[in-house]
Amino acid sequence: MAELGNDIDRAAGLLRSGELVAIPTETVYGLAADAIDPGAVVRIFEVKNRPAFDPLIVHVADIDEFSHYAGPIPPAAVKLAEQVCPGPVTFIFRKSRVIPDLVTSGHATVGLRIPDHPVTLQLLKSLEFPLAAPSANPFGFVSPTSAMDVQDQLGDRIPYILDGGDCQVGLESTIIDFSGHEPRILRLGGLSLEYLETLLQQRVAIQTSSSNPRAPGMLTSHYSPGRRLLVGDIPALIDSHPDLELGVLAFRHFYPGVVKQHQRILSPAGDPQEAARNFFRRLRAFNRLPVDLVIAEWLPDEGLGRAINDRLRRAAASADMPDRGAPPATNQ
Ligand code: TXA
Ligand code: MG
Repeated sequence: MAELGNDIDRAAGLLRSGELVAIPTETVYGLAADAIDPGAVVRIFEVKNRPAFDPLIVHVADIDEFSHYAGPIPPAAVKLAEQVCPGPVTFIFRKSRVIPDLVTSGHATVGLRIPDHPVTLQLLKSLEFPLAAPSANPFGFVSPTSAMDVQDQLGDRIPYILDGGDCQVGLESTIIDFSGHEPRILRLGGLSLEYLETLLQQRVAIQTSSSNPRAPGMLTSHYSPGRRLLVGDIPALIDSHPDLELGVLAFRHFYPGVVKQHQRILSPAGDPQEAARNFFRRLRAFNRLPVDLVIAEWLPDEGLGRAINDRLRRAAASADMPDRGAPPATNQ
């Protein structure tokens, strides 16, 4: 089991010696290593069982650091960053030579993000290097939103989990690519599309096609909840599965026909932000319940509801593969 605590100096010491440390952010917990040290970064891929083609996000403490690790940085990106950082956004720029190719999976671009969490910001400020950190879950599985989630999934593979409490956003960062002519979104996430478009004063294309592994968070099958999952009209799905033990993941309220203990509600008030905060936690809960099939409903497709629907879609696709168990071994 990993040691669990809030000792920032201890976390910094381990990171300086090339070890991995799980860190809290406002979105989800990350599995961090010194981004400049390929020997440390390669451990991230090993521990997560992550394919080498899936690049890592680099976390920094301040916008001023962007130009050290990437460039050119378009003025529109600087303006946006000044408004949303620290926050649940990752910026893609052309990378500088300082960033090892391993971090970006050989891509000419790098993802940079300033997480909005006091503990991790303090950690980043105390370090001499930025932190490469994917979500702290085995590749393909549900992202962790508490220190205990990390302990459950990776605790036997890392020395330390920096406990910063429950994640306040609950969905991974929105990824926006500024490396081309026009900004475009590669992953829907914790900052809504509508808000981004308001700040940028333009429509932004979404390019999250699963055929393109530019952002594997966008692979069709991802976020495996460990149970078969169907998304649609809950009463109809209950009717059409009379012989199965069902779990229900509902937006606002319980449904008749399934015992309450097997139902989870995302937000009784119908608030998409609250639903986002609860989403992975509630999905994860079905692992511990004796259910054969989880049925869920779509949220209104706007704001964070859109990002939740995206994850429901992918969780349902991955859950089509029963008994997925541990992800397949990879070279890295
Ligand atoms: O909120 C978050 O972004 C969390 C916290 C820990 O910061 N991190 C996270 O990392 O979600 P991860 O590795 O689970 O997802 C990062 C996504 C991947 O799908 C990856 O392909 C994409 O970001 N990505 C990273 N660098 C990229 C790049 N240069 N070009 C395109 N996509 C990139
Ligand atoms: Mg992830």
